[in-house]
Amino acid sequence: MSALTDIYVAVERCQDCELAKRRTRAVPGEGPENAALLFIGEAPGWHEDQQGRPFVGPAGQFLEQLLASIGLKREQVYIANVIKCRPPGNRDPLPGEVQACSKWLDKQIELLKPKMIVTLGRYSMARYFPNESISKVHGKARKHGDIIYYAMYHPAAALHQGSLRKTIEADMLKIPELLKETEQITSKEAEPQQLNLFQV
Ligand code: URA
Repeated sequence: MSALTDIYVAVERCQDCELAKRRTRAVPGEGPENAALLFIGEAPGWHEDQQGRPFVGPAGQFLEQLLASIGLKREQVYIANVIKCRPPGNRDPLPGEVQACSKWLDKQIELLKPKMIVTLGRYSMARYFPNESISKVHGKARKHGDIIYYAMYHPAAALHQGSLRKTIEADMLKIPELLKETEQITSKEAEPQQLNLFQV
C-alpha cells in the first residue's frame, strides 16, 4: 500500500459531510503516482458514483478526446475532483462540503507533486484563482512555487456549446508547450492571487 492508496481507503470511509450518506461509491481519483499533470474537476456525477472512478461519463469521454489531442491517454495523467462524493441530483457542491473535502485533495497534491495542475470548471478554479472569473483566466498559466496552475472550462459545459468547445480544445493544445516552458516561467514567492498571469 502506498500513501496514495491509503488516501483512497480513507476517502471511501469518510463520513465528514452529508454527501457520504447518499453516495454509492466515493470517487477519490486515479492515475499514476508520478503523474506530471493533475486534472481537477468538480464532483462525481451519476456514472462516477456508480463506478467509483472520476470522469467516466460523457464529460469523461470528452476529456479523453481532449487528452488525445495532445498525445496523452487518461492513464498517463492524474484525474481527481474537488468533491469526492456525488451531490444529490448533481447539484452544485455546498461551501461546507467543499471545505470538509478539501483535505483529501490537499493530501493527494502533497504526495503527487505534479508539475502542472489543470482546473476544470469553476469549483476547482476557485482553489487557485479565487475571486476571478473563468472567462478571464481560462487558457492562462500561473506559476506558484514549483507548480503551474492552469484554468480550463469544464468539459461538461464545453461539450455541447460550440464556442466553448473550440475554446477548451484550444486551451488544451497549450498544455504541452507550458509543461516544456515550466522552467522558464519565473517562480515568485508570493501568494497565487498576487502573481501575474502568463499567457503563452
Ligand atoms: N464531472 C466532474 O467534475 N467530475 C467527474 O468526475 C465527472 C464529471
